[in-house]
Amino acid sequence: MSEQGVDVGKRRFLTGATAVAGGVGAAFVAVPFIKSWQPSARARAAGAPVEVNVSELAPGAKLSVTWRGKPVVIIHRTDEMIASLSEISDNLRDPDSSNPQQPSYCQNPERAIKPKYLVMLSLCTHLGCIPDYNASPEAQPLLKAPGFFCACHGSAYDIAGRVYKGVPAPLNMPIPPYRYVADDIILVGEDPTGNGGGTA
Ligand code: FES
Repeated sequence: MSEQGVDVGKRRFLTGATAVAGGVGAAFVAVPFIKSWQPSARARAAGAPVEVNVSELAPGAKLSVTWRGKPVVIIHRTDEMIASLSEISDNLRDPDSSNPQQPSYCQNPERAIKPKYLVMLSLCTHLGCIPDYNASPEAQPLLKAPGFFCACHGSAYDIAGRVYKGVPAPLNMPIPPYRYVADDIILVGEDPTGNGGGTA
């Protein structure tokens, strides 16, 4: 996963992972009961959905999980980040997400169910490297606003994973199927109708 912003992201990931586990200290008595519905390692590898609690993910921070062996990044976008999506459209190859790189329910300007949270497979569409998350565009001259930069061969994406013009990557980064099971709890790998799905 990206090293950019790794301190905040990792801390939040750990917080989220702890929350997902339901609170280790408090959950001992519940273990025998919940074991039956927790996906096994084998089921996870086969594609079981992954539940993520984003309630403590600060604005601008990211957390990372793995689904089907692929890196998924979740960003809590700030209002400024959301505003930037319409400001840099002219710099993008596919600003309207016309290629099927996302489920239909995410084919919108934010490429998301809730504009606040980006849920995305963090895989560069050039040759599959994991791009860095740049909350500050100043850190990477190619970026006109917060986004992602792939150091492998220099591809740039905006904060919705839409690819810039003139870079090696041909497509926007994929959005996986996901849904909200509560206000701040995201289930990666299952669409809003409750079906498992492909990778957009
Ligand atoms: S793999 Fe990202 S630019 Fe080549």
